[in-house]
Amino acid sequence: MTTVVRKPAGFRQACDDARAGSRTVGLVPTMGALHEGHFSLIEEAKKRTDFVAVTIFVNPLQFGPGEDLDRYPRTLESDLAGCRERDVDVVFAPAPDSMYPAQFQTQVSIGELTKPLEGECRPAHFDGVTTVVAKLFNLAGPCTAMFGRKDYQQWKILSRMAHDLDMPIGVVGCPIVREPDGLALSSRNRYLSASERKRALGIVCGLRRAHDAWCEGEHSPDTLRSLAAEPVQSDFDRVDYVAAVDPDTLVKPAGPSSRVLIAVAAHLGTTRLIDNVVLGEDPRP
Ligand code: PAJ
Repeated sequence: MTTVVRKPAGFRQACDDARAGSRTVGLVPTMGALHEGHFSLIEEAKKRTDFVAVTIFVNPLQFGPGEDLDRYPRTLESDLAGCRERDVDVVFAPAPDSMYPAQFQTQVSIGELTKPLEGECRPAHFDGVTTVVAKLFNLAGPCTAMFGRKDYQQWKILSRMAHDLDMPIGVVGCPIVREPDGLALSSRNRYLSASERKRALGIVCGLRRAHDAWCEGEHSPDTLRSLAAEPVQSDFDRVDYVAAVDPDTLVKPAGPSSRVLIAVAAHLGTTRLIDNVVLGEDPRP
């Protein structure tokens, strides 16, 4: 049976009760519009823990001015059906004013890891993410939390936050779930027109070129970066970044190294897509 709670106190109680009954808690934070990427996190939580808690909250703090907060898909009924089908134990779906009451004025801000890549393009984004996830961690209490490596930098930042602030949370990064043609699943894919959907494969093409070159022995970050960038530049309307960086520090490696993160963010019309691959670690996208 899936319980739906709307109030923070009710969510805390549900997680406390589970632990009081000797059950371990698995947390899956989302903004809803659930797809197979989200469901893979739920399956992972089911494997690792006894009580699965999914949160559904379109967090206004992490959207910048001019971003898609207003048009972000809100599909609570079908999300709940998806959670019920998968035997999720509790869904926490708060209203914005119960997460951020009128006098709310606290922010959680992480250092260097938030500066490059997404941090450069979306200045206040990660402060919004870490603030809401810190609240969710505090409400859920000791647990294992699942995040997708689709948002690679977000996963790294949240691992850092839990560690630095001594939060009793195990942060797990789960593999990217892709469509059969390779496009990473995203709640934003539904914005794409038919022709944009075809051009979206430019990202996958770039990541595959870099992956193939890596497997043939090319380990120069600059060369890998240009190989990945070429199809993105030709298929997308605007490219925010194509980067080849160290997967742990997110800064440019001085020279060839044993793992390289290729991370991409680019726009098709009004839709912004991100994707990545860790060369030396991930399978071919
Ligand atoms: P959202 O975009 O809904 O994503 C929720 C979780 O699903 C994130 O951990 C994300 O990385 C993961 N995810 C999305 N697409 C995926 C895919 N194709 N494969 C694997 N995992 C995927 O990320 C957020 O929400 C928010 O920033 C949040 C952490 C909930 C804070 O508001």
